[in-house]
Amino acid sequence: MADLVIAPSILSADFGRLAEELDSVATAEWIHVDVMDGHFVPNLTIGPMIVEAVRRNTRAVVDVHLMIEPVDPYLEAFAAAGADRLSVHVEACPHLDRTLSAIADLGVRPGVVLNPATPPSAVEYVLHRVDLVLVMSVNPGFGGQSYIPAVEPKLVELRRMIGDRPIRLEIDGGISPATAGAAVRAGADTLVAGSAIFGTPDRAAAIAALRTAAAGG
Ligand code: DX5
Ligand code: ZN
Repeated sequence: MADLVIAPSILSADFGRLAEELDSVATAEWIHVDVMDGHFVPNLTIGPMIVEAVRRNTRAVVDVHLMIEPVDPYLEAFAAAGADRLSVHVEACPHLDRTLSAIADLGVRPGVVLNPATPPSAVEYVLHRVDLVLVMSVNPGFGGQSYIPAVEPKLVELRRMIGDRPIRLEIDGGISPATAGAAVRAGADTLVAGSAIFGTPDRAAAIAALRTAAAGG
């Protein structure tokens, strides 16, 4: 398996103290940024200005999860804001191949995201365009929801489809020390966690607990 990556989701952080919140998760490899539009998902969050602030205040990879529709008109702004990775939903992109190419053309790493009800075959013909597949283990829109174990066979199938290609398999939603082990055993190598990290006072300990759980401890 590729090295495990932990991606704290700032959706559960205190935005009034964003720089300190980012410092508190400095042991994580990535920072996950949830962009929601009140249209594709029933919640409104943040845009390129906050991505730019995150970029200035972390050395971690900035992993931007776009839950917006349409997405194409905003790709350039998120790239200019300093996103290292831009992931887009299959369900929000009628011309997915073109959108993923556009992300790569902006010099950003493209990822593709599947909602819980979307089958793995939805990404079969774009796997050559991405280096990350993100499986939602909640219906997107809010932090703090319960993990849906029914997505685990989808992780197994995607891991098979990926084979030995250098594509990360990320899981997002309800990940905690109680669920991380099962997700990793099913094939995930990149764990997004919001409330399990920012909902605890000792973030380094929360990140370490996820690593231990992922390792089967
Ligand atoms: C949900 C977001 C998640 C969210 C995860 O739509 O995509 O990234 O922040 O939060 P937790 O870890 O609390 O489920
Ligand atoms: Zn997310």
